[in-house]
Amino acid sequence: MRTRTRNKWIKYLFMKKNASLAPYLPETRKMSNQALWSLLEKHRHVMVKPVWGSRGRGVIQVSDLGNDNYIIHFENMRTMKRGKKNAYRYIKSKIGSSAYMVQRRITRPTINKRLFDMRVIVQRKRNSSDWVVTGKVIKVAGKGYIVSNNTRSHGQLLRFKPGIQRSSIRHLPITELETQIDKVSLLSADTLRPLFPNHRIYGLDIATDRQGHVSIIEANLYPAMSHFLKLKDGVMYRRILSYKNEPPLLSNRKMIINKRYVSNHLADSSNPLIFH
Ligand SMILES: Nc1ncnc2c1ncn2[C@@H]1O[C@H](COP(=O)(O)OP(=O)(O)O)[C@@H](O)[C@H]1O
Ligand SMILES: [Mg+2]
Repeated sequence: MRTRTRNKWIKYLFMKKNASLAPYLPETRKMSNQALWSLLEKHRHVMVKPVWGSRGRGVIQVSDLGNDNYIIHFENMRTMKRGKKNAYRYIKSKIGSSAYMVQRRITRPTINKRLFDMRVIVQRKRNSSDWVVTGKVIKVAGKGYIVSNNTRSHGQLLRFKPGIQRSSIRHLPITELETQIDKVSLLSADTLRPLFPNHRIYGLDIATDRQGHVSIIEANLYPAMSHFLKLKDGVMYRRILSYKNEPPLLSNRKMIINKRYVSNHLADSSNPLIFH
């Protein structure tokens, strides 16, 4: 459904207006020939993505190699195009008539040579204005993919600390990194509150670069619970549901022991108790 809850461009503009949050939002423009080449010239790599996208669908990475050569990375395929005209025509063939935007690419760190970013769940209780981080998971992109969306990229989900400790940024102070991620996530939820006054849950896509600088990729209003079910982390899953005032679908024991039960429910994306 085309509501503003799913409109990435509106959410980006609204968040960017908050001066304390603006530094964490990568430069983004509505897609056009001019916007693409000017952002590429500045940043060398950009992400071109649908304003109404979800689950990593239609996300394209464009890189300027120099000498008028461009690499276009879509799904798990990389194609080289010579000349701006050819490159743009190829990108347009993927985009069609959909509304798109173009965003500076965050150069993400890796785990086993695969790119990763994070999903952070922020919630508040009914009648409370205090936002709390209730869940956090590392999303590792599958081999050859630039999107970390778990199903699309056949990726991997990891807990925060063990994931960072196995990553190419393991030398960074982990507590400071987590504090910064939490701060930016909480501030995002608080900033979006006037736009969605009754809303009580956000799933932030957060990326860090290879120096540990934090960026907000997008704010989801209807984050999937599947990450926490797949991770088989009963603690995070139950905490999230308790904030939602919903009974857990699965007991902790069932979740850990009965893998088939979990995967059957995950397969049913229309199940409102999990995907909502
Ligand atoms: N600017 C960016 N820099 C680095 N990676 C990005 C960027 N934008 C998107 N991605 C990757 O692509 C994925 C999908 O993009 P996102 O904006 O979250 O759209 P969707 O609604 O399809 O999930 C992100 O989770 C991230 O892995
Ligand atoms: Mg996303």
